[in-house]
Amino acid sequence: MNDRHGVERHRLKRAVVTGAAGFIGSHLVDALLSAGATVVGVDRRDPGTDPVAATNLADALGHPGFTFVAADLRTCPVAALFLQADAVFHFAGMPGVRGSWGERFAEYTGCNVFATERVLAACEDVRVPRLVYASSSSVYGTIREGASGEQRTPTPESPYAVSKLAGEQLCLAHAGKASSAVTAVALRLFTVYGPRQRPDMLIGRALAAALGGAALNLYGSGDQRRDFTYVGDVVQAAIAGATTGIESAVLNIGAGVSTSVLDVLAAIEELTGRPVPVNRMPAKPGDVDATLADRSRAGELLGWKPCTALVQGISRQLAHLTANSPQIASA
Ligand code: NAD
Ligand code: UGA
Repeated sequence: MNDRHGVERHRLKRAVVTGAAGFIGSHLVDALLSAGATVVGVDRRDPGTDPVAATNLADALGHPGFTFVAADLRTCPVAALFLQADAVFHFAGMPGVRGSWGERFAEYTGCNVFATERVLAACEDVRVPRLVYASSSSVYGTIREGASGEQRTPTPESPYAVSKLAGEQLCLAHAGKASSAVTAVALRLFTVYGPRQRPDMLIGRALAAALGGAALNLYGSGDQRRDFTYVGDVVQAAIAGATTGIESAVLNIGAGVSTSVLDVLAAIEELTGRPVPVNRMPAKPGDVDATLADRSRAGELLGWKPCTALVQGISRQLAHLTANSPQIASA
């Protein structure tokens, strides 16, 4: 079957999403269910006991095509979860650059490296044809000029970035084994934002601060730049990564526009009509100066391009926040 861009696509009948209760994973679950797939969602956060997981999966849990499995991928039997899956979307992981130094590194390696190896071995065991892996723009480290293309040598600058690069390399190692049936598409996602964004991230924190929540801790000068990428565009890339008839690949998934933190705060002040109160803090180790995706390879191979401008995406995140946190909105 070809899509309207002429790219060959397979239909997904059955998909597994790891990290299903998280920010990006839950959007992916919703989109797959809307497209008619049967979805198994796996996460160590159980919506029965974890309020964030329950909110993120509110729509999916009532859908007849959805099954949720509460399990920790570092220890649980994995292969049985993947039986007859056309694709596994491996989005479970410990995210966040700044928290990855120190004591929590064991959790980063456990969830991002060890669990990824277990997921890949299970894909091999039950012959899953395609794994889509949530890699990270952080693998590039600091870029001095221009956009990062996938051929750029990674120079990760935080334990988190090292763990994500290790996960990506594991994907390629399994896909390259002669005996393996799994192909892997690793997507280097660039700073994802939108409704349900994790509470440690910039845009959600700045919106909450503007609406009367805690002041934003602004790390460094605010001149650091990010290629902020809307979650709905990321989900479309992930589905294209599973359904497009390509070999294993590493692809940048970014909006292709770099915006400074101070410019994001100005946009939020404009949208809300309120100032964003800030506490100036020292820059955090591992936080790179700038990210910017060269997204041409994802365009060529997946027929993917982002379609959400930053102000449009922030407006949607603002609408979601005011609908779900009325105490902040009325402060
Ligand atoms: P998130 O924390 O909202 O979601 C991750 C989910 O994975 C969580 O619900 C968590 O409970 C689950 N998880 C973690 N370890 C697990 C384990 N051992 N077993 C089972 N479940 C486990 O984070 P997110 O922002 O949605 O990120 C999703 C993925 O995308 C992560 O792998 C992250 O590294 C990657 N990523 C995120 C961004 C971004 O900007 N948000 C950018 C690049 C890459
Ligand atoms: C994001 C995700 O959190 C990582 O999990 C992901 O791997 C990474 O994108 C990626 O692109 O791969 P980050 O770019 O740090 O990491 O995204 P934000 O947390 O939104 O931070 C953006 C910028 O705002 C950073 O420079 C950060 O220092 C700054 N910031 C963030 C603050 O000044 N204050 C905050 O409270 C939060």
